[in-house]
Amino acid sequence: MISKRIKNMTPSATLEQSAKISDLKKQGIQVIGFNVGEPDYNTPMNIIKKAEEAYHLGLTRYTPAAGMIELREEICRKFKRDYGLDYTPKDVVVSSGAKQSLTNAFMAIIDPGDEVIVPTPCWVSYVEMIKLADGIPIMVALEEKDGFRLDVDKIKKSVTVKTKAIIINSPNNPTGAVYSKNDLVQLGQLAVDHDFYIISDEIYEKLLYDAEENVCIAALSSEIKEKTITINGVSKSYAMTGWRIGYAVGPTEIIKAMTDYQGNTTTSPNTPAQYASIEALANSEASVEIMRQEFDKRRQYIISRINEMKNIHCSTPKGAFYVMPNVSHFYGKQYNGFTVNNSLDMANYLLEEAKIAVVTGAAFEAPDNIRISYSNSMDNIIEGMNRMEEALSKLQ
Ligand SMILES: Cc1ncc(COP(=O)(O)O)c(C=O)c1O
Repeated sequence: MISKRIKNMTPSATLEQSAKISDLKKQGIQVIGFNVGEPDYNTPMNIIKKAEEAYHLGLTRYTPAAGMIELREEICRKFKRDYGLDYTPKDVVVSSGAKQSLTNAFMAIIDPGDEVIVPTPCWVSYVEMIKLADGIPIMVALEEKDGFRLDVDKIKKSVTVKTKAIIINSPNNPTGAVYSKNDLVQLGQLAVDHDFYIISDEIYEKLLYDAEENVCIAALSSEIKEKTITINGVSKSYAMTGWRIGYAVGPTEIIKAMTDYQGNTTTSPNTPAQYASIEALANSEASVEIMRQEFDKRRQYIISRINEMKNIHCSTPKGAFYVMPNVSHFYGKQYNGFTVNNSLDMANYLLEEAKIAVVTGAAFEAPDNIRISYSNSMDNIIEGMNRMEEALSKLQ
């Protein structure tokens, strides 16, 4: 018998769709994948070389549960350089991806029945992670008309005596929204006043456009820093999703609890990948910039194409590599026996009719939208937008 804990978990929304996509591919049909959540770039060569070096140096054994001291020192240097923040290696725990860092954080702070505020639209896994830790996710819907900005007045109404934490994500997956300093200051003050933690997932930190800058909420005041666990990693910034290195930085006591949990569940993260991650953090900004500029060109193209199409509109994302157009105008419309009643239907319709793979917004608590990732070549984006325009125009 499978445990109730796992039975209550919603499997990743994209899995079913992936099966359909591979079926179509097996039939020789060219599907354009706008569903991917990772850069379409290879890891920069200087980083790969460091991993090779690690194997030859015999860096193939376990490391301390919290990760190599040299990597934790490099992470401290990064926070000092980027945000003027002072951390020491005992305030840092390296994990097998930011996903594990997030799980560790929830496991370390949540007791059964504790509430965690989740502003939505949100990344698919937060809610499941909170439930797995016996917490209660409290969703707060942000408004599309405001560009999905962090509405702290709205969040304030959801704070109760049981509020243990809020999870925020800027730049945001799926909306691409980047939270303003003003809103983050207000949220930080709310957390200090009501004594709850802020888990700040900043995994898309380097992918910012239109001269936006990442505001690391922990840097806003020493009181806010005491309440904040910052989550980050090398996956998105350095095109290293498969290397599985993420990290968390925060109050020593919480980091210790996260490390203890990790020590018993996975020991330590991959050693050569940790060694390579030092190089990523220390010497790879030029590669990030090339990738960022290319993403920006694609972003501008895709927004202009979508906003030129009829009956669909899209707010302008300032970060990450996703756009999230509103497709609700088409609900109730049909073509060729296929009726689109919701965002999952729309994703299925676009896959069947246009052979493009997008993700249903419902997976992110955004039922009026679909998520399109522009982590794909410009040629594929142009072709994919042509196909989407044609497919939408057929819905009557
Ligand atoms: C918002 C967000 N946080 C965390 C992650 C996980 O990153 P990692 O590959 O480091 O586990 C993702 C990956 O899609 C993400 O979109």
